[in-house]
Amino acid sequence: MAQHTPTECDFLVVGAGIAGLRAAVELGEAGRVLVLAKRQVCDSATHYAQGGIAAALSDEDEVSLHLQDTLVAGDGLCNVEAVRVLVEEGPPRIEELIEWGTQFDRNGTKLAFTREGAHSRNRVLHAQGDSTGREILRALYAKAKTLKNILVLEFEMSSDLLLEDDRAVGVSVIGDGGELRQITASAVLLATGGLGQLYRNTTNPEVATGDGIAMAYLAGADVSDMELIQFHPTALYIKNAPRFLISEAVRGEGAYLRNMEMDRFMHKYHAQGDLAPRDVVARAIVHELEITRSPDPIVYLDLTHLKPDHVQHRFPRIYATCMKYNIDITTEVIPIRPAAHYVMGGILTDLTGQSSLPGLYAAGEAAANGVHGANRLASNSLLEGLVYGARAGQAMRNDWHRGLPTLNRKHAAPSNGSADSGIEELIGQIRDVMWNKVGIVRDGSGLRQAVETLQSLRSRVVGPGTRRAFEGRNILTSGLLVARSALAREESRGGHYRTDYPTHDDAKFLKHSVMRGEKISFQ
Ligand code: SIN
Repeated sequence: MAQHTPTECDFLVVGAGIAGLRAAVELGEAGRVLVLAKRQVCDSATHYAQGGIAAALSDEDEVSLHLQDTLVAGDGLCNVEAVRVLVEEGPPRIEELIEWGTQFDRNGTKLAFTREGAHSRNRVLHAQGDSTGREILRALYAKAKTLKNILVLEFEMSSDLLLEDDRAVGVSVIGDGGELRQITASAVLLATGGLGQLYRNTTNPEVATGDGIAMAYLAGADVSDMELIQFHPTALYIKNAPRFLISEAVRGEGAYLRNMEMDRFMHKYHAQGDLAPRDVVARAIVHELEITRSPDPIVYLDLTHLKPDHVQHRFPRIYATCMKYNIDITTEVIPIRPAAHYVMGGILTDLTGQSSLPGLYAAGEAAANGVHGANRLASNSLLEGLVYGARAGQAMRNDWHRGLPTLNRKHAAPSNGSADSGIEELIGQIRDVMWNKVGIVRDGSGLRQAVETLQSLRSRVVGPGTRRAFEGRNILTSGLLVARSALAREESRGGHYRTDYPTHDDAKFLKHSVMRGEKISFQ
Protein backbone atom coordinates (compact mmCIF):
# COMPACT_ATOMS: atom_id res chain seq x y z
CA MET A 1 0.00 0.00 0.00
CA ALA A 2 1.37 3.42 -0.90
CA GLN A 3 2.40 5.62 2.01
CA HIS A 4 1.44 9.26 1.52
CA THR A 5 1.38 12.20 3.82
CA PRO A 6 -1.26 11.94 6.49
CA THR A 7 -1.75 15.73 6.61
CA GLU A 8 -3.78 15.81 3.40
CA CYS A 9 -5.54 13.46 1.02
CA ASP A 10 -8.17 13.72 -1.68
CA PHE A 11 -10.84 11.75 0.15
CA LEU A 12 -11.05 11.20 3.87
CA VAL A 13 -13.09 8.27 5.13
CA VAL A 14 -13.66 8.14 8.89
CA GLY A 15 -14.54 4.58 9.91
CA ALA A 16 -13.41 1.24 8.50
CA GLY A 17 -16.56 -0.88 8.70
CA ILE A 18 -18.57 -2.01 5.68
CA ALA A 19 -19.72 1.51 4.67
CA GLY A 20 -16.30 3.13 5.01
CA LEU A 21 -14.37 0.40 3.20
CA ARG A 22 -16.96 0.11 0.44
CA ALA A 23 -16.78 3.85 -0.14
CA ALA A 24 -12.97 3.69 -0.14
CA VAL A 25 -13.02 1.01 -2.84
CA GLU A 26 -15.25 3.25 -4.95
CA LEU A 27 -12.80 6.14 -4.49
CA GLY A 28 -9.61 4.13 -4.88
CA GLU A 29 -9.38 4.71 -8.64
CA ALA A 30 -10.08 8.43 -8.37
CA GLY A 31 -7.57 9.83 -5.90
CA ARG A 32 -5.68 9.38 -2.65
CA VAL A 33 -7.99 7.89 -0.03
CA LEU A 34 -7.22 7.92 3.66
CA VAL A 35 -9.33 5.63 5.86
CA LEU A 36 -9.12 6.22 9.61
CA ALA A 37 -10.10 3.53 12.11
CA LYS A 38 -10.43 4.53 15.77
CA ARG A 39 -9.00 1.18 16.81
CA GLN A 40 -8.30 -1.80 14.61
CA VAL A 41 -10.37 -2.54 11.52
CA CYS A 42 -11.61 -5.67 13.27
CA ASP A 43 -13.07 -3.59 16.12
CA SER A 44 -15.94 -2.22 14.01
CA ALA A 45 -19.57 -3.29 14.49
CA THR A 46 -19.41 -4.88 11.02
CA HIS A 47 -16.89 -7.38 12.33
CA TYR A 48 -19.36 -8.46 15.03
CA ALA A 49 -22.44 -8.72 12.78
CA GLN A 50 -23.77 -12.25 13.01
CA GLY A 51 -27.14 -12.84 11.40
CA GLY A 52 -26.39 -11.78 7.89
CA ILE A 53 -27.13 -9.53 4.99
CA ALA A 54 -30.58 -9.45 3.39
CA ALA A 55 -31.15 -9.38 -0.37
CA ALA A 56 -33.78 -10.75 -2.75
CA LEU A 57 -31.46 -13.20 -4.46
CA SER A 58 -33.23 -16.52 -3.94
CA ASP A 59 -35.51 -18.10 -6.55
CA GLU A 60 -38.50 -17.76 -4.20
CA ASP A 61 -37.93 -14.07 -3.54
CA GLU A 62 -38.68 -10.77 -5.21
CA VAL A 63 -37.25 -7.28 -4.80
CA SER A 64 -40.80 -5.97 -4.34
CA LEU A 65 -41.29 -8.29 -1.33
CA HIS A 66 -38.06 -7.08 0.27
CA LEU A 67 -39.26 -3.51 -0.32
CA GLN A 68 -42.62 -4.29 1.25
CA ASP A 69 -41.14 -6.01 4.35
CA THR A 70 -38.73 -3.10 4.91
CA LEU A 71 -41.56 -0.56 4.68
CA VAL A 72 -43.79 -2.52 7.07
CA ALA A 73 -40.97 -2.84 9.65
CA GLY A 74 -40.22 0.89 9.25
CA ASP A 75 -43.69 1.69 10.62
CA GLY A 76 -44.54 4.55 8.27
CA LEU A 77 -41.26 6.46 8.41
CA CYS A 78 -39.23 4.91 5.59
CA ASN A 79 -38.33 7.03 2.60
CA VAL A 80 -39.74 4.77 -0.12
CA GLU A 81 -37.19 5.93 -2.72
CA ALA A 82 -34.31 5.23 -0.31
CA VAL A 83 -35.66 1.73 0.29
CA ARG A 84 -36.12 1.14 -3.42
CA VAL A 85 -32.46 2.01 -3.96
CA LEU A 86 -31.50 -0.37 -1.14
CA VAL A 87 -33.41 -3.40 -2.36
CA GLU A 88 -32.66 -2.86 -6.07
CA GLU A 89 -28.95 -2.09 -5.75
CA GLY A 90 -28.42 -4.64 -2.96
CA PRO A 91 -28.31 -7.81 -5.12
CA PRO A 92 -25.68 -6.51 -7.63
CA ARG A 93 -23.58 -5.13 -4.77
CA ILE A 94 -23.63 -8.54 -3.08
CA GLU A 95 -22.69 -10.27 -6.31
CA GLU A 96 -19.74 -7.87 -6.50
CA LEU A 97 -18.77 -8.86 -2.92
CA ILE A 98 -18.83 -12.50 -3.99
CA GLU A 99 -16.58 -11.65 -6.97
CA TRP A 100 -14.17 -10.03 -4.52
CA GLY A 101 -13.95 -13.24 -2.54
CA THR A 102 -16.69 -13.19 0.10
CA GLN A 103 -17.58 -16.78 0.91
CA PHE A 104 -21.26 -16.92 1.84
CA ASP A 105 -22.60 -20.22 3.18
CA ARG A 106 -24.08 -22.51 0.53
CA ASN A 107 -26.22 -25.60 0.25
CA GLY A 108 -24.17 -27.42 -2.34
CA THR A 109 -23.46 -24.77 -4.96
CA LYS A 110 -26.51 -22.64 -4.18
CA LEU A 111 -26.42 -19.73 -1.74
CA ALA A 112 -28.08 -20.61 1.58
CA PHE A 113 -30.74 -18.21 2.87
CA THR A 114 -32.20 -18.04 6.36
CA ARG A 115 -35.21 -16.22 7.79
CA GLU A 116 -35.22 -13.50 10.43
CA GLY A 117 -38.01 -11.57 12.17
CA ALA A 118 -40.53 -9.72 9.96
CA HIS A 119 -39.12 -11.10 6.66
CA SER A 120 -41.73 -12.80 4.46
CA ARG A 121 -39.10 -14.93 2.70
CA ASN A 122 -35.84 -16.66 3.53
CA ARG A 123 -33.50 -13.95 2.22
CA VAL A 124 -30.70 -13.57 4.74
CA LEU A 125 -27.28 -14.62 3.48
CA HIS A 126 -24.77 -15.70 6.10
CA ALA A 127 -21.13 -16.71 6.28
CA GLN A 128 -19.25 -19.13 8.54
CA GLY A 129 -22.65 -19.68 10.17
CA ASP A 130 -22.82 -16.67 12.43
CA SER A 131 -19.77 -14.58 11.41
CA THR A 132 -21.20 -12.85 8.35
CA GLY A 133 -19.80 -9.40 9.09
CA ARG A 134 -16.32 -10.75 9.78
CA GLU A 135 -16.22 -12.54 6.42
CA ILE A 136 -17.51 -9.53 4.47
CA LEU A 137 -15.00 -7.26 6.19
CA ARG A 138 -12.16 -9.67 5.43
CA ALA A 139 -12.97 -9.68 1.72
CA LEU A 140 -13.63 -5.94 1.52
CA TYR A 141 -10.39 -5.09 3.35
CA ALA A 142 -8.48 -7.45 1.07
CA LYS A 143 -10.04 -5.70 -1.95
CA ALA A 144 -9.12 -2.27 -0.54
CA LYS A 145 -5.52 -3.44 -0.06
CA THR A 146 -5.26 -4.19 -3.78
CA LEU A 147 -5.87 -0.50 -4.58
CA LYS A 148 -2.62 1.38 -4.13
CA ASN A 149 -4.32 4.74 -3.53
CA ILE A 150 -6.00 3.56 -0.33
CA LEU A 151 -4.21 3.96 2.98
CA VAL A 152 -5.91 2.57 6.07
CA LEU A 153 -4.60 3.90 9.39
CA GLU A 154 -5.58 2.21 12.64
CA PHE A 155 -5.75 3.78 16.13
CA GLU A 156 -6.51 7.22 14.66
CA MET A 157 -9.49 8.85 16.35
CA SER A 158 -11.08 11.80 14.57
CA SER A 159 -12.04 14.35 17.16
CA ASP A 160 -13.63 17.26 15.23
CA LEU A 161 -14.49 18.36 11.71
CA LEU A 162 -12.45 21.18 10.18
CA LEU A 163 -14.63 23.83 8.54
CA GLU A 164 -13.79 26.61 6.07
CA ASP A 165 -16.59 28.90 4.94
CA ASP A 166 -19.15 26.41 6.26
CA ARG A 167 -17.65 23.57 4.25
CA ALA A 168 -16.13 20.42 5.75
CA VAL A 169 -12.49 20.34 4.68
CA GLY A 170 -11.00 17.69 6.93
CA VAL A 171 -10.75 16.48 10.50
CA SER A 172 -8.62 16.90 13.60
CA VAL A 173 -7.14 13.63 14.67
CA ILE A 174 -5.97 12.55 18.08
CA GLY A 175 -3.38 9.80 17.86
CA ASP A 176 -3.00 6.83 20.16
CA GLY A 177 -0.52 8.74 22.31
CA GLY A 178 -2.73 11.84 22.54
CA GLU A 179 -0.88 13.81 19.82
CA LEU A 180 -3.04 16.05 17.64
CA ARG A 181 -2.89 16.86 13.94
CA GLN A 182 -5.11 18.05 11.14
CA ILE A 183 -5.88 16.29 7.88
CA THR A 184 -7.49 18.11 4.96
CA ALA A 185 -9.44 16.59 2.08
CA SER A 186 -11.76 17.61 -0.73
CA ALA A 187 -14.56 15.62 0.88
CA VAL A 188 -15.07 13.82 4.19
CA LEU A 189 -17.19 10.71 4.76
CA LEU A 190 -18.35 9.86 8.28
CA ALA A 191 -18.91 6.11 8.43
CA THR A 192 -18.36 5.88 12.14
CA GLY A 193 -21.18 3.48 13.01
CA GLY A 194 -23.63 3.76 15.88
CA LEU A 195 -23.92 4.67 19.51
CA GLY A 196 -24.84 1.56 21.52
CA GLN A 197 -22.26 2.53 24.14
CA LEU A 198 -24.61 5.31 25.27
CA TYR A 199 -26.50 2.55 27.03
CA ARG A 200 -25.62 0.43 30.04
CA ASN A 201 -26.56 -2.72 28.09
CA THR A 202 -25.59 -2.99 24.43
CA THR A 203 -24.65 -5.49 21.76
CA ASN A 204 -22.30 -2.89 20.21
CA PRO A 205 -18.50 -2.95 20.41
CA GLU A 206 -16.63 -0.45 22.60
CA VAL A 207 -15.95 1.87 19.65
CA ALA A 208 -19.68 2.65 19.18
CA THR A 209 -19.73 5.96 21.07
CA GLY A 210 -21.69 8.09 18.58
CA ASP A 211 -18.53 9.90 17.42
CA GLY A 212 -19.51 10.78 13.85
CA ILE A 213 -23.02 11.89 14.79
CA ALA A 214 -21.70 14.12 17.59
CA MET A 215 -18.92 15.57 15.39
CA ALA A 216 -21.35 16.38 12.58
CA TYR A 217 -23.91 17.92 14.93
CA LEU A 218 -21.28 20.03 16.71
CA ALA A 219 -20.09 21.26 13.30
CA GLY A 220 -23.63 22.42 12.44
CA ALA A 221 -24.96 19.52 10.32
CA ASP A 222 -28.60 18.46 10.64
CA VAL A 223 -29.26 15.19 12.47
CA SER A 224 -32.51 13.30 12.23
CA ASP A 225 -34.66 10.64 13.96
CA MET A 226 -32.29 10.25 16.89
CA GLU A 227 -35.10 9.00 19.16
CA LEU A 228 -35.46 5.87 17.03
CA ILE A 229 -33.27 3.29 18.74
CA GLN A 230 -33.58 -0.42 18.13
CA PHE A 231 -33.16 -2.73 21.13
CA HIS A 232 -32.19 -6.27 20.19
CA PRO A 233 -34.33 -8.71 22.16
CA THR A 234 -31.70 -11.36 22.74
CA ALA A 235 -28.31 -10.51 24.24
CA LEU A 236 -26.61 -13.08 26.46
CA TYR A 237 -27.25 -12.14 30.08
CA ILE A 238 -24.44 -13.14 32.41
CA LYS A 239 -23.67 -10.87 35.34
CA ASN A 240 -20.49 -8.80 34.89
CA ALA A 241 -19.96 -10.11 31.33
CA PRO A 242 -20.45 -8.11 28.10
CA ARG A 243 -23.87 -8.46 26.48
CA PHE A 244 -22.92 -10.76 23.61
CA LEU A 245 -25.50 -10.81 20.78
CA ILE A 246 -27.46 -14.00 20.23
CA SER A 247 -28.52 -13.62 16.62
CA GLU A 248 -32.14 -13.41 15.60
CA ALA A 249 -31.22 -16.08 13.06
CA VAL A 250 -31.32 -18.49 16.02
CA ARG A 251 -35.08 -17.93 16.22
CA GLY A 252 -35.18 -17.99 12.42
CA GLU A 253 -33.86 -21.55 12.62
CA GLY A 254 -36.55 -22.50 15.16
CA ALA A 255 -35.42 -21.46 18.67
CA TYR A 256 -38.10 -20.45 21.22
CA LEU A 257 -38.26 -17.74 23.85
CA ARG A 258 -39.30 -18.99 27.30
CA ASN A 259 -40.00 -17.17 30.56
CA MET A 260 -38.80 -18.21 34.01
CA GLU A 261 -41.63 -20.76 34.27
CA MET A 262 -40.24 -22.20 31.01
CA ASP A 263 -43.46 -21.22 29.20
CA ARG A 264 -43.33 -19.92 25.63
CA PHE A 265 -44.95 -16.48 25.67
CA MET A 266 -44.53 -14.67 22.35
CA HIS A 267 -47.87 -15.85 20.90
CA LYS A 268 -49.57 -13.71 23.62
CA TYR A 269 -47.99 -10.59 22.12
CA HIS A 270 -47.94 -11.02 18.32
CA ALA A 271 -49.28 -13.30 15.59
CA GLN A 272 -45.72 -13.88 14.30
CA GLY A 273 -44.76 -15.27 17.72
CA ASP A 274 -41.01 -15.65 18.25
CA LEU A 275 -40.36 -13.97 14.89
CA ALA A 276 -42.36 -10.82 15.57
CA PRO A 277 -40.69 -7.44 14.86
CA ARG A 278 -37.79 -6.69 17.21
CA ASP A 279 -39.46 -3.84 19.09
CA VAL A 280 -42.45 -6.05 19.87
CA VAL A 281 -40.24 -8.90 21.09
CA ALA A 282 -38.06 -6.57 23.20
CA ARG A 283 -41.11 -5.04 24.91
CA ALA A 284 -42.69 -8.46 25.44
CA ILE A 285 -39.50 -9.59 27.19
CA VAL A 286 -39.49 -6.44 29.37
CA HIS A 287 -43.08 -7.23 30.33
CA GLU A 288 -42.28 -10.87 31.14
CA LEU A 289 -39.31 -9.73 33.24
CA GLU A 290 -41.58 -7.30 35.13
CA ILE A 291 -44.32 -9.82 35.92
CA THR A 292 -41.86 -12.48 37.09
CA ARG A 293 -41.66 -12.56 40.87
CA SER A 294 -37.90 -12.85 41.05
CA PRO A 295 -35.23 -10.45 42.29
CA ASP A 296 -33.15 -11.28 39.20
CA PRO A 297 -35.62 -12.06 36.42
CA ILE A 298 -34.39 -13.64 33.19
CA VAL A 299 -35.85 -14.83 29.92
CA TYR A 300 -34.42 -17.78 28.01
CA LEU A 301 -33.75 -18.80 24.45
CA ASP A 302 -34.27 -22.49 23.91
CA LEU A 303 -32.52 -24.39 21.10
CA THR A 304 -32.48 -27.74 22.86
CA HIS A 305 -35.14 -29.21 20.55
CA LEU A 306 -32.95 -28.50 17.47
CA LYS A 307 -30.45 -31.04 16.16
CA PRO A 308 -27.18 -30.53 18.11
CA ASP A 309 -24.99 -30.98 15.01
CA HIS A 310 -26.99 -28.39 13.12
CA VAL A 311 -26.80 -25.90 16.03
CA GLN A 312 -23.02 -26.28 16.34
CA HIS A 313 -22.48 -26.02 12.61
CA ARG A 314 -24.89 -23.16 12.00
CA PHE A 315 -23.93 -21.05 15.04
CA PRO A 316 -20.29 -21.87 15.85
CA ARG A 317 -19.47 -18.46 17.34
CA ILE A 318 -22.55 -18.39 19.58
CA TYR A 319 -21.92 -21.99 20.60
CA ALA A 320 -18.28 -21.29 21.51
CA THR A 321 -19.05 -18.04 23.34
CA CYS A 322 -21.79 -19.63 25.46
CA MET A 323 -19.49 -22.56 26.17
CA LYS A 324 -17.02 -20.07 27.70
CA TYR A 325 -19.72 -19.44 30.32
CA ASN A 326 -20.34 -23.19 30.69
CA ILE A 327 -23.63 -23.08 28.77
CA ASP A 328 -23.94 -25.89 26.22
CA ILE A 329 -26.67 -24.43 24.00
CA THR A 330 -27.51 -27.84 22.52
CA THR A 331 -28.68 -29.08 25.93
CA GLU A 332 -29.28 -25.95 28.04
CA VAL A 333 -31.36 -22.79 27.64
CA ILE A 334 -29.55 -19.44 27.17
CA PRO A 335 -30.25 -16.59 29.65
CA ILE A 336 -30.98 -13.41 27.69
CA ARG A 337 -32.21 -9.85 28.07
CA PRO A 338 -32.64 -7.05 25.52
CA ALA A 339 -29.81 -4.58 24.80
CA ALA A 340 -29.34 -1.41 22.73
CA HIS A 341 -28.45 -2.48 19.21
CA TYR A 342 -28.91 0.10 16.45
CA VAL A 343 -29.79 3.74 15.86
CA MET A 344 -32.15 4.29 12.93
CA GLY A 345 -31.43 8.03 12.97
CA GLY A 346 -28.15 9.89 12.55
CA ILE A 347 -26.60 12.49 10.25
CA LEU A 348 -29.32 13.58 7.81
CA THR A 349 -28.33 12.77 4.22
CA ASP A 350 -29.83 12.54 0.77
CA LEU A 351 -29.65 9.36 -1.29
CA THR A 352 -26.04 10.06 -2.26
CA GLY A 353 -24.88 10.39 1.34
CA GLN A 354 -24.55 14.20 1.12
CA SER A 355 -25.28 15.86 4.48
CA SER A 356 -26.60 19.38 5.03
CA LEU A 357 -22.97 20.57 5.31
CA PRO A 358 -21.15 20.94 1.98
CA GLY A 359 -18.19 18.56 1.70
CA LEU A 360 -19.57 16.25 4.39
CA TYR A 361 -21.02 12.80 3.59
CA ALA A 362 -22.31 10.04 5.83
CA ALA A 363 -23.16 6.36 5.28
CA GLY A 364 -23.86 3.27 7.33
CA GLU A 365 -25.30 3.45 10.83
CA ALA A 366 -24.06 7.03 11.36
CA ALA A 367 -26.34 8.26 8.56
CA ALA A 368 -30.08 8.87 8.43
CA ASN A 369 -31.10 8.47 4.79
CA GLY A 370 -34.62 7.20 5.51
CA VAL A 371 -33.96 3.55 4.67
CA HIS A 372 -34.84 2.13 8.07
CA GLY A 373 -37.81 4.30 9.04
CA ALA A 374 -38.77 3.87 12.68
CA ASN A 375 -37.52 0.30 12.96
CA ARG A 376 -34.84 -1.44 10.91
CA LEU A 377 -35.62 -4.79 9.32
CA ALA A 378 -33.18 -7.50 10.45
CA SER A 379 -30.04 -7.81 8.31
CA ASN A 380 -30.73 -4.62 6.38
CA SER A 381 -27.87 -2.83 8.17
CA LEU A 382 -24.93 -4.48 6.38
CA LEU A 383 -26.86 -4.03 3.15
CA GLU A 384 -27.36 -0.32 3.82
CA GLY A 385 -23.64 0.14 4.57
CA LEU A 386 -22.74 -1.66 1.36
CA VAL A 387 -25.18 0.12 -0.98
CA TYR A 388 -24.95 3.60 0.51
CA GLY A 389 -21.20 3.36 1.16
CA ALA A 390 -20.74 2.82 -2.58
CA ARG A 391 -23.15 5.67 -3.39
CA ALA A 392 -21.35 8.08 -1.05
CA GLY A 393 -18.04 7.13 -2.69
CA GLN A 394 -19.47 7.89 -6.14
CA ALA A 395 -20.85 11.25 -4.97
CA MET A 396 -17.54 12.24 -3.34
CA ARG A 397 -15.74 11.44 -6.57
CA ASN A 398 -18.10 13.79 -8.41
CA ASP A 399 -17.46 16.46 -5.76
CA TRP A 400 -13.75 16.37 -6.44
CA HIS A 401 -13.58 19.12 -9.04
CA ARG A 402 -13.18 21.60 -6.19
CA GLY A 403 -9.69 20.27 -5.52
CA LEU A 404 -7.92 20.37 -2.20
CA PRO A 405 -8.88 23.07 0.27
CA THR A 406 -6.31 25.27 1.94
CA LEU A 407 -6.74 26.00 5.60
CA ASN A 408 -6.96 29.79 5.85
CA ARG A 409 -7.95 29.78 9.45
CA LYS A 410 -5.87 28.24 12.19
CA HIS A 411 -8.08 25.69 13.88
CA ALA A 412 -7.83 25.64 17.61
CA ALA A 413 -6.26 22.49 19.02
CA PRO A 414 -8.33 20.93 21.78
CA SER A 415 -7.17 21.98 25.21
CA ASN A 416 -6.21 19.48 27.82
CA GLY A 417 -8.90 21.09 30.01
CA SER A 418 -10.91 18.27 31.48
CA ALA A 419 -8.43 15.54 30.51
CA ASP A 420 -9.61 12.16 31.75
CA SER A 421 -10.36 12.99 35.33
CA GLY A 422 -13.63 11.37 36.38
CA ILE A 423 -14.49 10.47 32.78
CA GLU A 424 -15.31 6.80 33.42
CA GLU A 425 -17.62 7.70 36.27
CA LEU A 426 -19.28 10.34 34.07
CA ILE A 427 -19.77 7.92 31.18
CA GLY A 428 -21.17 5.33 33.60
CA GLN A 429 -23.67 7.88 34.90
CA ILE A 430 -24.80 8.78 31.34
CA ARG A 431 -25.17 5.11 30.40
CA ASP A 432 -27.38 4.48 33.44
CA VAL A 433 -29.57 7.51 32.72
CA MET A 434 -29.96 6.43 29.09
CA TRP A 435 -30.82 2.84 29.98
CA ASN A 436 -33.26 3.72 32.78
CA LYS A 437 -34.98 6.77 31.28
CA VAL A 438 -34.43 6.68 27.50
CA GLY A 439 -34.59 2.91 27.00
CA ILE A 440 -37.07 0.36 25.66
CA VAL A 441 -40.09 1.80 27.49
CA ARG A 442 -40.14 5.60 27.93
CA ASP A 443 -42.40 8.29 29.36
CA GLY A 444 -42.45 12.08 29.44
CA SER A 445 -41.45 12.45 33.06
CA GLY A 446 -38.45 10.08 32.74
CA LEU A 447 -37.37 11.75 29.49
CA ARG A 448 -37.56 15.22 31.05
CA GLN A 449 -35.43 14.01 33.97
CA ALA A 450 -32.93 12.50 31.53
CA VAL A 451 -32.65 15.74 29.52
CA GLU A 452 -32.14 17.78 32.72
CA THR A 453 -29.52 15.40 34.08
CA LEU A 454 -27.62 15.20 30.79
CA GLN A 455 -27.72 18.97 30.37
CA SER A 456 -26.32 19.42 33.87
CA LEU A 457 -23.34 17.26 32.89
CA ARG A 458 -22.40 19.37 29.85
CA SER A 459 -19.77 21.41 31.72
CA ARG A 460 -17.90 18.17 32.49
CA VAL A 461 -17.06 17.50 28.83
CA VAL A 462 -15.83 20.93 27.77
CA GLY A 463 -12.31 21.02 26.27
CA PRO A 464 -11.57 17.31 26.04
CA GLY A 465 -7.87 16.49 25.88
CA THR A 466 -7.74 12.72 25.52
CA ARG A 467 -9.44 10.13 23.34
CA ARG A 468 -11.60 8.92 26.19
CA ALA A 469 -12.61 12.49 27.05
CA PHE A 470 -13.66 12.99 23.40
CA GLU A 471 -15.67 9.78 23.62
CA GLY A 472 -17.28 11.15 26.79
CA ARG A 473 -18.20 14.37 24.96
CA ASN A 474 -19.61 12.36 22.04
CA ILE A 475 -21.62 10.06 24.31
CA LEU A 476 -23.12 13.02 26.15
CA THR A 477 -23.82 14.96 22.93
CA SER A 478 -25.47 11.98 21.24
CA GLY A 479 -27.34 11.06 24.43
CA LEU A 480 -28.88 14.52 24.58
CA LEU A 481 -29.90 14.27 20.92
CA VAL A 482 -31.66 10.96 21.62
CA ALA A 483 -33.33 12.14 24.84
CA ARG A 484 -34.49 15.50 23.45
CA SER A 485 -35.91 13.93 20.27
CA ALA A 486 -37.63 11.20 22.30
CA LEU A 487 -39.25 13.84 24.51
CA ALA A 488 -40.43 15.78 21.46
CA ARG A 489 -41.99 12.73 19.72
CA GLU A 490 -45.23 12.47 21.68
CA GLU A 491 -46.38 9.16 20.21
CA SER A 492 -45.13 5.56 19.92
CA ARG A 493 -43.69 4.29 16.65
CA GLY A 494 -41.21 1.55 15.77
CA GLY A 495 -38.33 1.53 18.23
CA HIS A 496 -39.71 4.51 20.16
CA TYR A 497 -42.31 3.50 22.76
CA ARG A 498 -43.88 5.86 25.30
CA THR A 499 -46.37 4.68 27.93
CA ASP A 500 -47.90 8.20 28.05
CA TYR A 501 -48.46 8.19 24.25
CA PRO A 502 -48.79 4.47 23.44
CA THR A 503 -50.21 4.81 19.91
CA HIS A 504 -49.28 6.42 16.60
CA ASP A 505 -50.20 10.05 16.06
CA ASP A 506 -49.97 10.26 12.28
CA ALA A 507 -51.41 13.76 12.14
CA LYS A 508 -48.49 15.21 14.08
CA PHE A 509 -45.69 12.69 13.83
CA LEU A 510 -45.75 10.82 10.54
CA LYS A 511 -42.62 12.91 10.03
CA HIS A 512 -38.90 12.87 10.75
CA SER A 513 -37.45 14.73 13.69
CA VAL A 514 -34.65 17.07 12.60
CA MET A 515 -32.26 18.79 15.00
CA ARG A 516 -30.18 21.77 13.93
CA GLY A 517 -28.35 23.39 16.81
CA GLU A 518 -30.78 23.63 19.72
CA LYS A 519 -33.83 23.65 17.44
CA ILE A 520 -35.92 20.53 16.89
CA SER A 521 -38.66 20.25 14.26
CA PHE A 522 -40.72 17.51 12.59
CA GLN A 523 -40.53 17.53 8.79
C1 SIN B 1 -28.77 -10.53 14.42
O1 SIN B 1 -28.00 -11.35 13.97
O2 SIN B 1 -29.76 -10.79 15.09
C2 SIN B 1 -28.49 -9.08 14.17
C3 SIN B 1 -28.63 -8.78 12.75
C4 SIN B 1 -29.15 -7.41 12.57
O3 SIN B 1 -29.10 -6.58 13.49
O4 SIN B 1 -29.68 -7.12 11.50
